[in-house]
Amino acid sequence: MLKKTRHSSQVQSVLVTGASRGIGSAFARALPQDCRIILTGRDQDALDRVRDEITLPGREVSIVTADLALAADRSRVIEKGLTADLDMVIANAGTGNYGRFLDRELSQHQTTLSVNVEAVVELLHSLLPGMIKRAKINQRRAAAIVVGSTAGFVPVPYLATYAASKAFVLSFCESLSAELSADPVDILCVCPGATETEFGSRAGFSGGSPPGAMEPDFVARKALRAVGRRRTLMLDPVPAPVLAPTALLRATAAEIMRRAIDVFDRGRSR
Ligand SMILES: NC(=O)c1ccc[n+]([C@@H]2O[C@H](COP(=O)([O-])OP(=O)(O)OC[C@H]3O[C@@H](n4cnc5c(N)ncnc54)[C@H](OP(=O)(O)O)[C@@H]3O)[C@@H](O)[C@H]2O)c1
Repeated sequence: MLKKTRHSSQVQSVLVTGASRGIGSAFARALPQDCRIILTGRDQDALDRVRDEITLPGREVSIVTADLALAADRSRVIEKGLTADLDMVIANAGTGNYGRFLDRELSQHQTTLSVNVEAVVELLHSLLPGMIKRAKINQRRAAAIVVGSTAGFVPVPYLATYAASKAFVLSFCESLSAELSADPVDILCVCPGATETEFGSRAGFSGGSPPGAMEPDFVARKALRAVGRRRTLMLDPVPAPVLAPTALLRATAAEIMRRAIDVFDRGRSR
């Protein structure tokens, strides 16, 4: 269904959220050597370390320290992105709380929604128009990679808010991919399964990573290669064979919905 349209090796200017560790820092390492990169996260020291690791002669790497749960900080990140002539945004930052829904403070669930949902919607709504406009002028393609999760495909007890936030991200990206299919922009929702990062321990899960957990570098490299080639990338050896057909069905449904709405809503201008 999707044309082979773009390869991420063409990217020139990228914003990566959640770049201080885990999958986000792996994205930063995997990006082409000659592109400009904005790293954002809360942990200044960790961001500095990632910057030191990826800085090369002639490469511009900048940092915005920001808490994406806070509206003012999200605005600062967007402001920086708007001045950077971005052609790729990687909305990777994510958080969750393991445990019974009622045993966690409401504020913890709200933080999950702000970081995993609100920040993604705000970033894409603010940054995509300029990215698409530049792509048209320069006859190139822009891209947004949003990191979802296999948890977006299934309800997950003890991670109820997190799984629901990733279901939002998945549906949002699938709709957006179909809606923007005539524009020079590729939207990719990457849905990893268990990956060897600090996510689980930070979420309060004491069990460690399950056997077969992926390396963050593997996830980032696979995601960058999939840009322009797929709309949803499922990366999990266990549920992928079961869930992958679902992803295809959902992408097809999104296209059918778009075409049906295009036909019936004569008042809507593109
Ligand atoms: N690890 C897995 O098994 C797994 C599986 C599926 C999907 N994912 C998704 O992968 C993405 C990356 O997670 P990870 O595994 O790399 O976890 P991680 O090692 O815990 O990294 C999470 C990143 O998100 C940032 N972040 C969290 N809360 C933030 C906030 N309030 N404001 C700004 N940045 C914030 C962190 O920044 P600071 O450290 O600077 O606070 C960090 O850079 C997330 O969207 C996660 O849901 C992970």
